[in-house]
Amino acid sequence: MKLLFLGDIVGRTARDAIVSDLPALRADLDVDFVIVNGENAAGGFGITAAICEDLFNAGVDVVTLGNHAWDQREALVHIEREPRLIRPVNFPAGTPGRGAGLFETAKGERVLVINAMGRVFMDPLDDPFAAIEREIGACPLGEAADAIIVDFHGEATSEKMAMGHFCDGRASLVVGTHSHVPTADAQILPGGTAYQTDAGMCGDYNSVIGMEKDEPLNRFLSKIPTARFQAASGEATLCGVFVETDASGLARRIEPVRVGGRLKPALPA
Ligand SMILES: [Fe+2]
Ligand SMILES: [Fe+2]
Repeated sequence: MKLLFLGDIVGRTARDAIVSDLPALRADLDVDFVIVNGENAAGGFGITAAICEDLFNAGVDVVTLGNHAWDQREALVHIEREPRLIRPVNFPAGTPGRGAGLFETAKGERVLVINAMGRVFMDPLDDPFAAIEREIGACPLGEAADAIIVDFHGEATSEKMAMGHFCDGRASLVVGTHSHVPTADAQILPGGTAYQTDAGMCGDYNSVIGMEKDEPLNRFLSKIPTARFQAASGEATLCGVFVETDASGLARRIEPVRVGGRLKPALPA
């Protein structure tokens, strides 16, 4: 199976890039399933029902979230009726929506997608390792799922790498989101799980993690807010990973993907 995961979509420029580039990318790479992290899709803050629809129409199969999940309040309602939108599995009990979902590709293969959030330098939440253990245990790779993808939304590289090893041999892909910068450590772990510490954002890299530079810089210099954060509007780079799995559901290939904008391009050969 061929999977494409794209990191945090930041603002309109990234949404426009998805709409214009994803259909061709999906066809060129012969991708069976596409996951994107949408926590920053609405001007950097959350996601709306209309944006979800645009992403699905462009060829996205599942949208994951993170700490910005509820910045747009309508997402609290929308997630209850849109199973293709999932939020971190270790949010408090009673949180709307679900943290994992089992989906089917056009060819009938079953893909389990799990979204979880780290706890290092993040809000305190339930143990993400225990939560992922439960989800993988309930739907094991090679038995109930033909592929398992974990979007681990976290700040600390250590926690993300630990999660990769925790899932090694039991998931097709563990990929980090949230830092908005792609890491250069794409690899297949010893047990066969594809891994990259952070997918990087889909957004304008002439920015401070996707935001117009002036206000973030001002807050570092003076600590006095003078304006709201606004998503940067220059051409976006689509960032993520391409993964190919074998019949076992484990990975035989992972390639970084960077398309458009300012970053050096990368595409599977
Ligand atoms: Fe983000
Ligand atoms: Fe985040």
